[in-house]
Amino acid sequence: MKKDFLSIADWSTDELYQLIDLSKKIKSEPKNYSTSLQGKSIATIFEKQSLRTHVTFDVGIHQLGAHAIYLTQADISLGKRESVYDTGKNLERWVDGIVVRTYADKTCTDLAKAVKVPVINALTDREHPCQALGDFLTVHEKMWSFFGKKFVFVGDGNNVCHSLMLFAAKVGMNFVAAVPKGYEPDKNVFKSAVTSAKKMGSTVEINHDPKEAVKGASVIYTDVWTSMGQEAEKEKRLTIFKNYQVNKKLMSIAKSDAIFMHCLPAHRGEEVTDEVMDSKNSVVFDEAENRLHTQKAVMFTLMKGE
Ligand code: CP
Ligand code: NVA
Repeated sequence: MKKDFLSIADWSTDELYQLIDLSKKIKSEPKNYSTSLQGKSIATIFEKQSLRTHVTFDVGIHQLGAHAIYLTQADISLGKRESVYDTGKNLERWVDGIVVRTYADKTCTDLAKAVKVPVINALTDREHPCQALGDFLTVHEKMWSFFGKKFVFVGDGNNVCHSLMLFAAKVGMNFVAAVPKGYEPDKNVFKSAVTSAKKMGSTVEINHDPKEAVKGASVIYTDVWTSMGQEAEKEKRLTIFKNYQVNKKLMSIAKSDAIFMHCLPAHRGEEVTDEVMDSKNSVVFDEAENRLHTQKAVMFTLMKGE
């Protein structure tokens, strides 16, 4: 059994399917899990802003019978007021798990190494595994299988792209990152995804032409062009990414029943048009809902047995 949920790369195909199955059970019968983590306390640390992750962890922790302690940079100044290690060694004496959103991925992995309690990555500059899990539950609900279908991520090869790419590869979906030159996913993450995909008989590719990439796609996914921490590059990125907007024309090249996905927050009019966001093929709010059920499954899996 894994101690932490830090990267999709750490979890096997079977384990990811188990998380999806458990998420479905929790979603259909939430009352059956209302005392699963009774008496436990979970710290949620946020170095960056959040709506969905903050609220879904808070609500999910409450629905499992546990207690959430929300800590921002203004409260604890992670890595500045004292070391990440010391923060962890304090927290593990009081709480049963830690959910953490950081800039550097190393902050999150260092914290996980330092403590004996489970740590859940709630987004770092490198990955957003909770997002990918919620999204693949959404894909499974809509399509009932992953195998052989084409998933195209259009935009920046960022943290969300990394986790989706790793997840798609583990479950045998064909994945294409349609990104501008210089904004490809991290080489090591890409390599890891290619290795997983080979085992599953599927493919992971990079394509610089979004129109070519979305041909035959069942899923079109995008995210903001400027992630948290990159604000100084916003103007430059608006120019570089302008041909990577997901609009009606791009959607029309994909399969006619292709779904549109976005982790949110969306910058309407930039990476996606209102028309696509609000179309019948858009599942963006289902994804947001599924963050709740899937994170409950992760917390249950990691913290129930203690
Ligand atoms: N998708 C997501 O993680 O949203 P927040 O940044 O609002 O948590
Ligand atoms: N890539 C975005 C995702 C936000 C949920 C960011 O890191 O800001």
